[in-house]
Amino acid sequence: MCGIVGYIGNNNAIPVILKALEKLTYRGYDSAGIAIIEKGKLVVEKKVGKIRELIRALWGKSYQSHIGIGHTRWATHGAPSVENAHPQTDEGKNFAIVHNGIIENYQELKEELIKKGHKFQSQTDTEVIVHLIAEYYKGNLLEAVLKAIKRLKGAFAFAVISTFEPDKIVAVKKGSPLIVGLGKGENFLASDIPAILPYTRNVIPLDDGEIAVLTKDSVDIFNFEGLPVSKEIFVVPWDILSAEKGGFKHFMLKEIFEQPKAISDTIGGFLSQDLNLPFDIKNINRIITIACGSSYHAGLVGKYWIEKNAKIPNEVIYASEFRYADVPIDENTLVLAISQSGETADTRFAALSAKEKGATVVGIVNVVGSSLDREADFTLYTHAGPEISVAATKTYSAQLTLLYLISILLAHKKNLISKEDFYNRIDEFKKIASSVEKTLQLNEKISDIASKYKHSSSILFMGRWLNYPTALEGALKLKEISYIHAEGYPAGEMKHGPIALIDENMPVVIIAPKDRVYDKILSNLEEVLSRKGRVISVGFEGDKVLKQKSEKFLSIPYTDEEWTPLITVVPLKLFAYHIADQLGLDVDQPRNLAKTVTVE
Ligand code: M6R
Repeated sequence: MCGIVGYIGNNNAIPVILKALEKLTYRGYDSAGIAIIEKGKLVVEKKVGKIRELIRALWGKSYQSHIGIGHTRWATHGAPSVENAHPQTDEGKNFAIVHNGIIENYQELKEELIKKGHKFQSQTDTEVIVHLIAEYYKGNLLEAVLKAIKRLKGAFAFAVISTFEPDKIVAVKKGSPLIVGLGKGENFLASDIPAILPYTRNVIPLDDGEIAVLTKDSVDIFNFEGLPVSKEIFVVPWDILSAEKGGFKHFMLKEIFEQPKAISDTIGGFLSQDLNLPFDIKNINRIITIACGSSYHAGLVGKYWIEKNAKIPNEVIYASEFRYADVPIDENTLVLAISQSGETADTRFAALSAKEKGATVVGIVNVVGSSLDREADFTLYTHAGPEISVAATKTYSAQLTLLYLISILLAHKKNLISKEDFYNRIDEFKKIASSVEKTLQLNEKISDIASKYKHSSSILFMGRWLNYPTALEGALKLKEISYIHAEGYPAGEMKHGPIALIDENMPVVIIAPKDRVYDKILSNLEEVLSRKGRVISVGFEGDKVLKQKSEKFLSIPYTDEEWTPLITVVPLKLFAYHIADQLGLDVDQPRNLAKTVTVE
């Protein structure tokens, strides 16, 4: 998804902006650009492709500027091209803008502006904003921006600079994320924290409906009426090293290996948080979980735990479906909104609509200060550290960890388990981190196995009960980074359709720890074998039966049946990773995907 950066201060803006843009590339992009003001003139450089193209274009040009904005674009309106890349400017080259999100009424605004004599150069919706600002500019940039945003419909974040006022950046947030970074004699702007981590950890996340005016020595925040707003400063709890590859070939592999730490840190963070719930559990008769992608799969595992331990019915709904469905919600409903980024538009808007209907919304987020963190009634944090690879790995483990802890916390609050039992269970659960560590030793073996299946055109993943979501997650991971078609299924459903797909060319990954559904899934495995399917199984070490029936067997350490989803998913992530890597694909930035999906 698009990335915004801005810099104003004593240093040369160009290297700062380029470095910050590079930190945003994990979000996915197809073109990049930068605008600075030098000697009173706007200088704009834009390139299609990777940031290095932009860096090359700037080589040897000794621009010196103390103000600038930059952008990585992920095309929505208009194909990837230099004309459509941001920054976009007015024809007088006095204003430049970078923008994330979508201006829904851009067509009618464009027609109106063309009638007034404005000349458009791109197919983007963004360009209308800069023309509107130029149209409304009467000697005060902030006032022109305030007037322009009244005309815009949609969700957006943008930053604008002008040759008329070269000492400031004006930035607007409505829907898409935007944060201000605070320095000494310099200030920063970015759509995501990693962009400014090399420079500062002090940030002000903007809320929807806010405008920031940055000079090198000040940051002032206003609402859309132009009235000042006072804001809290957040200190980002990560350092720059945690957002670097640290010797691993890809961020994804590094993050897979960080799972044990993510689990331990999430347990530690949970225990240090105030565990008094800001609602009365006696009033809650139902839980609805809303989330997307991997977070949705974590929610599905959480449902089994919550229903088993806390005995509260828990429905899990895709956030994108929830928002437009007529799900009965009232003040007795607890909504769990799960999002590692805390910026996923579908999840945020679903959470806001649940809140409007009277539900209590608990955010489960990894990014402190993110939009969902601030919009939820209260937040429980996963402590996975920054996740850069588009594929969610360690944040999924952290979400599972937190959901298990929530399930027993709710059980304790309902007096279903004693305080002592609650803490005893957590002590036992802590051992999961070392079981994950042990499972990671499968890395090389899985790399070998991957080489045998990497040319498959389709792979099925089957699991039951707690590991049905694991099958969904294994399939999602594989398809998003390797582009191999994959389906996750509850194994019992196979006979109702997917079994027709099985022949000697179809690899089937079967997740079969020795739990309450083990015998059932072994029968499903037999069904696959009798159709000549090629079985890759994941099961407990020492399971000779499973090993003997499988073409490949991945052994995981014995674990209490309730906690197996934290372990079984580990080999599946490695399997997807090695297949994508061996196919020579861009593992961390798969095609067509973005890390943070801020459009609906
Ligand atoms: O930031 P979120 O947890 O809200 O993101 C939700 C999905 O976009 C995300 O999990 C996506 O499915 C991942 N790329 C999966 O690996």
